[in-house]
Amino acid sequence: MKTETTIQGLNAALASARLARKTIGFVPTMGNLHEGHLSLVREAKKLCDVVVVSIFVNPIQFGPNEDYDNYPRTLEADSHLLADVGCDLLFAPTVQQMYGDHVRKTSVVVSGITDLLCGQSRPGHFDGVATVVTKLFNIVQPNTAFFGQKDWQQLEVIRAMTRDLNLPLDIVGVPIARAEDGLALSSRNGYLTEQQRQQAPVIYQSLLAAKQSLQSGEDLSVVLQNIRDTLQQAGFEIDYVEAYTPHLQSVQQFNQDIMLFVAAKLGQPRLIDNLLVKYIPN
Ligand code: PAJ
Repeated sequence: MKTETTIQGLNAALASARLARKTIGFVPTMGNLHEGHLSLVREAKKLCDVVVVSIFVNPIQFGPNEDYDNYPRTLEADSHLLADVGCDLLFAPTVQQMYGDHVRKTSVVVSGITDLLCGQSRPGHFDGVATVVTKLFNIVQPNTAFFGQKDWQQLEVIRAMTRDLNLPLDIVGVPIARAEDGLALSSRNGYLTEQQRQQAPVIYQSLLAAKQSLQSGEDLSVVLQNIRDTLQQAGFEIDYVEAYTPHLQSVQQFNQDIMLFVAAKLGQPRLIDNLLVKYIPN
């Protein structure tokens, strides 16, 4: 596997693949890779000739009181993991390489669906994501890009932006990779103490219980309140527990698929998860 840190180097490394019209699959990440990221790379390997992964901790998607400075940077270990799963090219640019010294005058802003859920608790976050992902798409010029369903709202934002701006690539969503006890894998799980780590699967358990109640006809607002109660009793500080349609519209009727979304803090780390509840007609 090659590693490139500059746009020029990346272009040189991709030149022959582009010339031969090989399909390029792209997995953008912020590193500190785990099985969730690797599942995206495996999916990309299945669908594309050449797989590019980027590792870039993007400063403009972190709020002033968030963990940008402390975000785990583990490039050495990451590049071994990527080589093992058959990634062809790692792009690991510096902040200087991505943003230069000039004042940035352009942002990509996706409206509406960024006002709710994580957009409400992390103002400006999705502008930072949409802007860096647009830049990365333009740099890598992939045929297909892969995003995890763990960050469902992010995936919807990327899909909307790709459609609205006619970006010439396909977006593929990959299911959530979970630990054996159900906890959605995340780089932030590393911040959990041993005791918090044991509590953390309560999020997924409460989502599964909610799904069962919904499918047996329980009222949505009761089900959401049950999740909140369970999480509070387990020591979580709730950011949101909400339901939307899979495309993040508000739920108007009950004969449709519903997505349940949770963000909650367990001590310092903020964990997110979601679950699709398929509508089953009686
Ligand atoms: P990061 O948090 O590193 O995640 C990179 C990709 O891995 C995202 O598409 C995310 O949804 C996916 N991912 C993380 N955990 C996962 C899990 N348990 N199962 C499946 N997929 C998982 O998301 C970002 O970085 C950034 O916002 C980025 C898109 C790179 C822009 O900076």
